[in-house]
Amino acid sequence: MKKLLPGKVLLPRAAIARRVAGLGQQIADAYAGHELVIVPLLTGGLIFAADLIRRLPIKMRLDVAAVSSYPGRAIRSRGVTIVLPPQLNIRRRHVLIVDDILDSGRTLTAMQNILRRRQAASVKTCVLLRKEQARRAGLWADFVGFDIPDVFVVGYGMDFNHLYRNLPDVVQLRTAR
Ligand code: IMP
Ligand code: MG
Repeated sequence: MKKLLPGKVLLPRAAIARRVAGLGQQIADAYAGHELVIVPLLTGGLIFAADLIRRLPIKMRLDVAAVSSYPGRAIRSRGVTIVLPPQLNIRRRHVLIVDDILDSGRTLTAMQNILRRRQAASVKTCVLLRKEQARRAGLWADFVGFDIPDVFVVGYGMDFNHLYRNLPDVVQLRTAR
């Protein structure tokens, strides 16, 4: 099997930081006067959510949930499993799901369904990245950081085989020569 390694920088850390600050302001404006429950999806949405909530000047609670869609070394989704359901009671509360990437849309849909079943007052979604195939399919999130091409990326929370989440930039995966 060919080795896959971090390659070219797609989004440098400074560009990410600027966009995250902008998203924070956009979200704060959208929820002005309301309390919010933020539900980051582990593990990929962790770094993004940690930065985002510190740019979010509103009253909020932090929950966490986990969905798994890429078993092992897979780079294609094979259906999602809820590994950790949301913990807080979100009945009649406004909820914002925060994740790293919107690709097939299965992850966000699965989590939105759970939260709606639990009777959240509203369920919105925020992703750092939206891939081209999601954009073409007309999939959307309420708040999107960047639209990117259909390449596999790592860094800023995103992994390949559980590696490279700690890279500060978003980097494209490349085949080793
Ligand atoms: P979806 O369920 O197909 O929309 O996939 C979204 C999930 O797949 C995200 O939460 C990511 O964890 C993961 N994912 C999708 N594309 C990538 C990628 O390029 N790098 C790392 N993880 C990815
Ligand atoms: Mg994920």
